[in-house]
Amino acid sequence: MRTPIIAGNWKLNKTVDEALALANDLKGQLSDLNDVEIVIAPPFTALAPLAATLTDSPIVLAGQNCYPAEGAYTGEISPALLRDVGCRAVIIGHSERRQLFAEQDDFINQKVKAALAAGLKVIFCIGETLTERNENLTFEVLEKQIRMGLSGLDSAAMTRLTVAYEPVWAIGTGQTASNEQAQEAHHFIRGLLSQLFDRSTAEATRILYGGSVKPDNIDGLMHQADIDGALVGGASLKVGDFIRIARFKRS
Ligand code: PGA
Repeated sequence: MRTPIIAGNWKLNKTVDEALALANDLKGQLSDLNDVEIVIAPPFTALAPLAATLTDSPIVLAGQNCYPAEGAYTGEISPALLRDVGCRAVIIGHSERRQLFAEQDDFINQKVKAALAAGLKVIFCIGETLTERNENLTFEVLEKQIRMGLSGLDSAAMTRLTVAYEPVWAIGTGQTASNEQAQEAHHFIRGLLSQLFDRSTAEATRILYGGSVKPDNIDGLMHQADIDGALVGGASLKVGDFIRIARFKRS
């Protein structure tokens, strides 16, 4: 059985004080939840103070991005420094990085490898644009992103990697993929992982859905056989919404 993950991607929101308030609320109100892994990815500036607040909490702190090297790279952050400040995971390949900052699959692959080598867990994001979906290219796009992004990884590395399927057209738009659309993509992804690695690796890998996940659609999504959790943007900024999502109803 795969333990579900509910992850909050705070993106470029929250001052340190606001981040502390939200993290403390989550810590208090989710302390009894022991069958779901909770991950939060605040902006870099809030990581150190949040790590101090979360030392006695199972909530996992994650970076939103990293750079696959150290040294003369002004403005970047390395996996080792994320680890140093208390992160146990990092989001890599988010569609905003791909679209707004032109990150390509081979660069994302370097980041995945660097993060795993530094001992971080990885939430590896993939997803098609609306144009690609309308042109029936969804599976082709997902396959390329997975083949290139996970190139060079073995089954052992995959035990520390979670895939997040986030259709670009559903992110921040209020337009969630239907349960069937999401399940279809997740099923495809798991099949591909089985081909690229092996069946038990594919069965053990958590595949999260992301894109306008809200309290009113989480239950239906989590009901799908291949959906193992959610990567939540907008709704992760509101304590009540995120808690309801983390407490999704099981069948
Ligand atoms: P959203 O963002 O929930 O606001 O659509 C999801 C994400 O970008 O991870």
